[in-house]
Amino acid sequence: MRIDIITCVPELLSGPFDHSILKRAKDKGLAEVVVHNLRDYATTKYKAVDDYAYGGGAGMVMMIEPIARCIDKLKSERDYDEVIYMTPDGKNFNQKEANKLSLKKNLIILCGHYKGVDQRVRDLFITKEISIGDFVLSGGELAAAVVADAVIRLIPGVLNDETSALSDSFQDDLLAPPVYTRPADYNGHKVPDILLSGHQAKIEEWRSEQAIKRTKERRPGLFKE
Ligand code: ADE
Repeated sequence: MRIDIITCVPELLSGPFDHSILKRAKDKGLAEVVVHNLRDYATTKYKAVDDYAYGGGAGMVMMIEPIARCIDKLKSERDYDEVIYMTPDGKNFNQKEANKLSLKKNLIILCGHYKGVDQRVRDLFITKEISIGDFVLSGGELAAAVVADAVIRLIPGVLNDETSALSDSFQDDLLAPPVYTRPADYNGHKVPDILLSGHQAKIEEWRSEQAIKRTKERRPGLFKE
């Protein structure tokens, strides 16, 4: 998979993809993230990527030309499955959407800033609009990193133990059960006996019960669904 991220603050994305699971995905040749600085596509003398809003009002709006030039260039090099715009008024991101996107080959993610992008960008280029939650970030970069992380770790071969993504919270619409490691007794706080029993079928049954209990208690809406 290749993910091209378009941003006017590329520095915000210089860290997340160089560590841990995402670095492993890159080293194994399973996923590549390429960050593009929108200013490199600016058409004005001062490399402007934003301008005042028509009709007035506070805040700047990202201009269509630099974005169009960047997207057109990328599209001339390869086909893209989706051109995603990160925005708080997009569709709420969840595990189902992460699963779907993990099956794609090439994605473009456009990060919004200031008051957002000129509506014509959304009308002409964007195929999917994603929000990572009902709150407003300073820009779409951290949201894009969240989506890229959630998607890349699902690509087969990225995680060592492939079953570990399948047992994540939300994969079966349930939260994950509690987990424990050594010591078995921490100042009198003991690991549940069943996990030390060696009885695998009973352990799985316990985990399943715990997942249901947790989901009922913490996410009744999700449980009902
Ligand atoms: N940009 C700003 N806030 C955002 C959010 N909640 N989700 C996605 N992109 C955003």
